[in-house]
Amino acid sequence: MTSVNRAVPDTRPAQCASEQYQMTSLPVASIVIPLHNEPWSTLDRTIKSILNRSPSSLLKEIILIDDKSDLDYLGAPLEKYAEEVGILKVHRAFERLGTMKSRVLGAHLATGDVVVFLDSHVEVNVGWLEPILFELNNDKTTIIQPSIDLIDPETFEYQHYFKNNIRGHFRWNMAFEYAPLTPKQEAEVAAEPTKAFNTPAIVGAAFAANRKYFLDIGGLDTGMRTWGGEDVELSIRNWLCGGSMKISPCSHVAHIHKHGHPFKSDYSDLVYNNQRTAEMWLGKYRHYFYNFNSGLAMPPQFNESYNGMDGVKAKYKCKEFSWFLDNVFPELEVPPEGSVYFGHLVNLGSHFCFGPTDHPVLGSYHVIALVDCYFYYKIRNFALLQNGRLMVDRKCVKIKKNFLVMSSCSSNAGGKFKFVGKQLVYIDFHGSKCVTQMSKDFVSGQLQVAFLAPCNVSNKASEWQIEKLYKI
Ligand SMILES: *[C@@H]1O[C@H](CO)[C@@H](O)[C@H](O)[C@H]1NC(C)=O
Ligand SMILES: *[C@@H]1O[C@H](CO)[C@@H](O)[C@H](O)[C@H]1NC(C)=O
Repeated sequence: MTSVNRAVPDTRPAQCASEQYQMTSLPVASIVIPLHNEPWSTLDRTIKSILNRSPSSLLKEIILIDDKSDLDYLGAPLEKYAEEVGILKVHRAFERLGTMKSRVLGAHLATGDVVVFLDSHVEVNVGWLEPILFELNNDKTTIIQPSIDLIDPETFEYQHYFKNNIRGHFRWNMAFEYAPLTPKQEAEVAAEPTKAFNTPAIVGAAFAANRKYFLDIGGLDTGMRTWGGEDVELSIRNWLCGGSMKISPCSHVAHIHKHGHPFKSDYSDLVYNNQRTAEMWLGKYRHYFYNFNSGLAMPPQFNESYNGMDGVKAKYKCKEFSWFLDNVFPELEVPPEGSVYFGHLVNLGSHFCFGPTDHPVLGSYHVIALVDCYFYYKIRNFALLQNGRLMVDRKCVKIKKNFLVMSSCSSNAGGKFKFVGKQLVYIDFHGSKCVTQMSKDFVSGQLQVAFLAPCNVSNKASEWQIEKLYKI
């Protein structure tokens, strides 16, 4: 009952509407949309939104890569529809290709300067195309993502879901996640709200690149299976090989966040795809991928071809992964030597995370507080080492008046931390106590903090969860 031809709320920052683009200087775009058994209405709405909200002088063609759909309406009726639209072309795959091969095939078939990849269930917003073409015209090695809005899969309401700008990143399992901007980036975006900003990774649902450059740096990894992981691989590759990944705040595209897939997609395929990324790009850091995969992936025992990118690496003199950690994504922390557990320490009572206070609150000490885990830049990765040290930010956690505080690691004095079941126990010559979430008064006000209290197995506030490193 939702019209396939509808207006959507303009979700851009206010300043975007007054940006002027010199249309004749912008490159023209081919839009590539892979699809597999997409419902007619969502596909039709995708195409109508593109036709309604893209300047025709900038739109060369829309290419549908039909990845072996078997629904009747996607046969002859789709071809009739394409004929009516004119610039819409349908290309049929003869075997199931998956998203990676479909998109690369589309890029080869396309004739525009720029290729824009969209999923088959999106709606583009007002003025979505110009800002990304503008950025790609400035720098052919940029690969750019529109800001992603969401369409509710049940009500089809267009939602400006991520009110503040967000970026994409990943952890050592190489899986894509949305993440808030760092405070430094927030400030940069606030100062220039229309300018595209850097992101460690993009998500595959919508992105654009200079077509020739995209194919030359290797397109997408066509050795991956069916769906997922290709976006993170492309992101790491483009950063390491001299390009950049960006998000445009003035270009908005909404994506239906489905609850599942209309096709069979095996979780093991996703792990396999992520493993390819790790093997191709992490170099000496690749073992962290295996450490953080709970044994789902093991280092390759046989000679599988993970190095199809060798030619690209040589041609573009691609850098080592350490460069990416230093320059693009310092937030992806490397666990300290000897870590047994590493990650966010989550309280199972409150589901809050460990994070040191910004300022000293106990004399000169920063205490370990508990904050909403969503604010990842307030929380930290903690490492519990084999020798009982609890570390954060290269510092050691020590005890002052039963508070947990950040301190230097120089002295060996003090006790040891250890997990006993779900409880994080601190043992020294006085005996043992349990780290427990409590509310405490400070000069600056009340804070939820980590505090040493007598152990009590029925107290949920003393139960914790953290990622255990899988030994390989
Ligand atoms: C893997 O490849 C290397 C080098 O090409 C070769 O020496 C080795 O025998 C191969 N191993 C297996 C198990 O095929
Ligand atoms: C242990 O914790 C439970 C749940 O919070 C509480 O009801 C109980 O009184 C505690 N026992 C002691 C000895 O503090």
